Order: sequence, then C-alpha cells, then structure tokens
Amino acid sequence: MLMTKTLAVSAIKNGVVIDHIPAGQALYLVRLLKLSDRNKQVTLAINLKSGSKGYKDIVKLEEYRLTADECAKIAVICPNATLNTIENYEVTDKSKVVLPDRIDDIFPCPNDKCISNHEPMSASFLIQEYRQGIRLRCHYCNKCFSQEDALPLR
Ligand code: CTP
Ligand code: ZN
Repeated sequence: MLMTKTLAVSAIKNGVVIDHIPAGQALYLVRLLKLSDRNKQVTLAINLKSGSKGYKDIVKLEEYRLTADECAKIAVICPNATLNTIENYEVTDKSKVVLPDRIDDIFPCPNDKCISNHEPMSASFLIQEYRQGIRLRCHYCNKCFSQEDALPLR
C-alpha cells in the first residue's frame, strides 16, 4: 500500500524547527527576530491542523542555531513552542522553550509616556506567569501588560 503520511512542509537537512507556535504568529516571530535576514532557506507553515481541534504554525530555519537570547524571546512570544535541532535530517534535540525572568530589547513599551520611549534606551520587561499565559511588567514605568497588549506588529 502507498504510504500517505507526508510532512505538510518539507523536512530540512540541518537547522532548527520551531514547532507549536500559536496559529497566525509565525510571520510575526520571523519579523521580530529577523530570522529571514540571511541567505538561507526559511519555511513557514501557517494554520496547520494540530490535534483534534487546534491549529498551529511552524518555522523551519535551514543552517541555523538559535542563541540563548533568541530562545528567550521565542518563549515570551510563544510560551508553548518546541525547539527541534535537526542534524542530517534527524531530530537530535527537542526542548520546550523556557520563560526568562526578564527580557530586554524585544519590543517597545506600549505606554507612550514611558521614559524608555523617549530616551535612547531599550525597553525591558519582567516576565510573570499569569493564569494560563504571561504578563510583562515594564522595568521603567512599572506598568503591566498582557502579551496581546505588548506585541506590537500583530
Ligand atoms: N522536521 C523537519 N525536518 C526533519 C525532521 C523533522 O522539518 N528532517 C520537523 C517535523 O516536521 C516536525 C518537527 O521537526 O514539525 C519535529 O519532528 P518530530 O519530532 O519528528 O515530530 P513530532 O513527533 O510530531 O514532534 P512533537 O512530538 O514535538 O509534536
Ligand atoms: Zn514602560
């Protein structure tokens, strides 16, 4: 019998697969982390069926290793993402992202009056787990934002 199970997006040879991204956020993640600013293949899959009712996005980065800073930023944007290291077509490492206590230089503080938006400094947020998701508290103005309020490009 013919095998009918195929990958929705081609397998990669070497690199990183960011899996279980909330549906619709892959493009945002790639733009925010500038993951396509190289001469290497980046494949996005948006709104893939995941489980019985849900949907997810996937980002595949050929010839790439994520830095610790990038992993922390991915965790803030997609707290349930899985990072898969691919070597010679095999998954050689799989881990869930880990939320950092604090994140710098990711996106501006949503508070217009915050000093970080008026002085040459990067925004910095303390990350707190809140109900099922997270909250971000600005280090400078001390205001607290939901993830939806803080993510600017969506
Ligand atoms: N993958 C890939 N290229 C490869 C191997 C795997 O793009 N050469 C991708 C798969 O498409 C999948 C992810 O890497 O999106 C993880 O692969 P695998 O662990 O085999 O899949 P699952 O068992 O479905 O992963 P999980 O249990 O984490 O959902
Ligand atoms: Zn602020």
